[in-house]
Amino acid sequence: MTDVRSRITTWSKAGLILLSSRHFLCAATASAFFAACVLVLQAGAQNTRSAARKNPAGDSAAEDGRKTFESICATCHGLDGRGGERGPDLVSRAEVVAKSDAELQEILKVGKTAAGMPSFAGYKAERVASIVGYLRTLQGGNKAARLPGNPVQGKMLFFGKAKCSECHMIGGRGGFFGQDLTRYAGKRDVDGIRAAIINPNKDLDPRRGLVTVALADSNRLTGLARNEDNFSLQLQTPDGTFHLLNKADILRLTYDGKSAMPADYGSTLSTTELNDLVSFLLRTVDAEKASKAKEAEDDVDE
Ligand code: HEC
Ligand code: HEC
Repeated sequence: MTDVRSRITTWSKAGLILLSSRHFLCAATASAFFAACVLVLQAGAQNTRSAARKNPAGDSAAEDGRKTFESICATCHGLDGRGGERGPDLVSRAEVVAKSDAELQEILKVGKTAAGMPSFAGYKAERVASIVGYLRTLQGGNKAARLPGNPVQGKMLFFGKAKCSECHMIGGRGGFFGQDLTRYAGKRDVDGIRAAIINPNKDLDPRRGLVTVALADSNRLTGLARNEDNFSLQLQTPDGTFHLLNKADILRLTYDGKSAMPADYGSTLSTTELNDLVSFLLRTVDAEKASKAKEAEDDVDE
């Protein structure tokens, strides 16, 4: 009897979790009602878990993670997780490496169905954890590589001492002389991001760098050429202002051969500070996605 009762509690817990996530209230204590709940559940679950297959009992978590990965995930992400025809690289891209285990588990549960990543909502929590565990093994299990520094410190630097926000926006805050960096780190690795911060003049296309124009009224302006045609030039100065200039008024236009981004961060910031900034940029990509999802939810609630 004890045995049966404990099984019922487990089932009704599972029922509660699944049903409440569908905005049902299932306070199943009476066994008849409860049985109906289970039927609803199973019908619903079967649609979403066609990819789920049971492993023979007795596998260790690590073994279970590997088997599931190789039989299910590898179809799209490749056996080594480095990407296949239908799914992206999960092993070397900084965006994925930087995610916490909880964030990765959430992706598996929810999926990104519109983009082709199925939901594995039908998997038990332990199974999802074992898959993420195996993914970490593929990534090299190198915790230090996930985030090189402290994203909270990085945020303070970005909006404070390092003055990045005078030119760059993140999450709707900051200037717009440089590009919005909210999604910048998404497709880049740690070294690439660090290099972009300390070495903006490397491989610079002079036409994308600063230009100085000498005007007929003997004024000079330095900034970025945003738009140019035969008759006019649109110049943005570092304060963010756009100047629409007539070519007829321009005496001389010089490409300075320098990026508009300060080139001395390699010396004005310490290695730790740079790592913190890189970590903030990596984290921010996820934070933005999360807040977008929440906004959408709030809109529905209103
Ligand atoms: C049918 C193909 C398919 C299968 C099967 C699949 N995925 Fe994916 N997965 C994708 C696609 C496509 C994306 C990219 C979605 C996007 O662009 O946002 C993705 C994205 C992801 C991401 C997020 C990557 C990022 O850049 O944030 C993770 C993590 C992931 N998959 C893990 C898994 C794991 C683990 C499994 C096995 C349980 C799995 N996927 C099974 C197609 C698949
Ligand atoms: C004076 C304005 C200014 C400041 C301050 C500034 N940047 Fe920039 N930054 C720019 C501009 C303009 C570009 C575009 C450079 C180019 O293409 O030559 C840029 C480019 C970048 C890029 C590369 C973007 C890409 O798409 O390739 C990164 C990353 C970046 N900045 C990060 C930072 C960080 C982090 C800080 C603070 C430590 C910072 N910037 C401070 C103006 C600035």
